[in-house]
Amino acid sequence: MITVRKLLSFEFSKFGQFMKSLDEESLKMYFGMATSKDYIDSLMSKVNSNKLMHDFIIAEDEDLNIVGVLHLATITEDKMEIAIAVSPHRRKQGIADKMMTMALTICQNKNKNGIFMHCLSWNKPIVNLVTKYGLKVERDGTDADAYVKLPPAALDSYFKEMLLYNQNLFQRNLNFGTHFLRELSSY
Ligand SMILES: CC(C)(COP(=O)(O)OP(=O)(O)OC[C@H]1O[C@@H](n2cnc3c(N)ncnc32)[C@H](O)[C@@H]1OP(=O)(O)O)[C@@H](O)C(=O)NCCC(=O)NCCS
Repeated sequence: MITVRKLLSFEFSKFGQFMKSLDEESLKMYFGMATSKDYIDSLMSKVNSNKLMHDFIIAEDEDLNIVGVLHLATITEDKMEIAIAVSPHRRKQGIADKMMTMALTICQNKNKNGIFMHCLSWNKPIVNLVTKYGLKVERDGTDADAYVKLPPAALDSYFKEMLLYNQNLFQRNLNFGTHFLRELSSY
């Protein structure tokens, strides 16, 4: 089963590695333009120079391979920008759903209530995804911006984050154990 978690700051390079593994079309959809590996390196340099402004949520498969990433970048004290990508071979399996749920819960609990996403207006999967999470999409030619104002942190949102964290940790430990036994039995 797929699990989601936040990357620790010393693991941020995993995001760059995942992005570099994506095909050209996915990168174009993610960044809104054709993108090179050098561009991803320069993005990672910016991230590493100010790690406190960034959070990454990743989705891992049963063998702990990364199959999706969500970048949360702080724009202002109470505003975050989201960008998301899932491996092409793992799409339409609810992976973006899992990452969005965790991301929005984390934002709400940090009182970063203004959520923003930039995307291509013809990118139906992302437009549908963000609309599902209450973001209002405003189109301007080929570009589109999506916004939502989250409610303030509350007891139930803190409880939801704790539950998500524990469920994913439990399942990840199971995945890790199963993966370890499988590796062992292959020797
Ligand atoms: C957009 C993207 C992240 C969706 O990931 P995913 O894991 O396939 O999405 P999920 O399976 O979790 O689906 C969640 C919702 O997204 C929407 N969606 C996903 N794929 C869709 C598709 N092919 N067509 C229409 N809607 C789609 C639906 O609303 C879906 O909810 P539903 O299943 O209840 O209808 C993925 O297509 C992707 O990585 N695209 C390339 C990168 C990109 O475009 N990023 C956006 C700019 S930052």
